[in-house]
Amino acid sequence: PTPVIIDCDPGHDDVFAIWLAAGNPALDVRAVTTVAGNGTLEHTTLNARIALSVAGVHNVPVAAGASQPLSRAAKPAADIHGANALGGPATLPEPTGVPLDPRSAVDLMADTLLASESPVTLIPTGPLTNIAALLAARPDVVPAIREIIWMGGAVDRGNVTPYAEFNAWADPEAAEVVFKAARSEAAGGLGIKLTMVGLNVTHQALVTDEVIARVEAVDNATAAFGVQLLRFFCKTYAEVQGMPAAPLHDPVTVAIAIDRAVATVVRTHVDVETRGEFTAGATSVYLLDQAKGKDKNADVAMQLDVQRFWDLIVGSVERLA
Ligand code: BDR
Ligand code: CA
Repeated sequence: PTPVIIDCDPGHDDVFAIWLAAGNPALDVRAVTTVAGNGTLEHTTLNARIALSVAGVHNVPVAAGASQPLSRAAKPAADIHGANALGGPATLPEPTGVPLDPRSAVDLMADTLLASESPVTLIPTGPLTNIAALLAARPDVVPAIREIIWMGGAVDRGNVTPYAEFNAWADPEAAEVVFKAARSEAAGGLGIKLTMVGLNVTHQALVTDEVIARVEAVDNATAAFGVQLLRFFCKTYAEVQGMPAAPLHDPVTVAIAIDRAVATVVRTHVDVETRGEFTAGATSVYLLDQAKGKDKNADVAMQLDVQRFWDLIVGSVERLA
């Protein structure tokens, strides 16, 4: 199995990203690290531990990372994810059997990367603050990074502002660091392989009634907890975004790590807007022949195999506790 580290801000869809990875035999989750995003760092860290505990996964270290973006203030998405970032269940369970690792997220990632017998895939599903901090503090671990598959950005429109997606908008400076690191060495980068899984593809992963029914049909604690999360997520998406079904963004990254055929990609040049008056956090994705002569620094996911995606999700939930 491919070793992976999930860097996340749970968050309803982050929880499913953790479960999809932990329940699939093609991946070996070596660490989970947390960042402020959907909620405060305190909440996202507790929620990551709860996600593992509910699923009966007790052998994966969890470490807390950045409580604030690189140079901005954290702005939790309570309208979508609730005040504790995991709205839905009347009370959240204790994260039994999943202690907090005393190391920082950067230290846990670096230790995990250096200890691995083969390069590790980094799967960030929140703002890129921890990943940018890792690249800045520990250039020695770069050769141990197989690739980065990030949920964030968009080919067209955003969800928090007209052109910015939440994870990119929350920490545009960190996203810029990562997209620059993904440039070729000739273009001043580190040549890290990067896949961007933006709203244009995650909005194909819609939590329909049929999806909820499939998860509900699974007879275990993970599914029972998951259904409560999905119902809440759909309710807030209907209220806030006017969408009849919520997009389960984050696990699309993990699905790609499991099976690249689950999404088509276009290899092209991407920049992150950090200064725009109205557009900070927008991902500027070159399409058509715009990228001619430009360094291509990202695989941008485009078309999702929706049926295969949900089959992977349900398969993982079935294999968990
Ligand atoms: C992203 O923002 C968060 O609300 C979700 O967890 C996802 O990572 C979607 O824009
Ligand atoms: Ca997230």
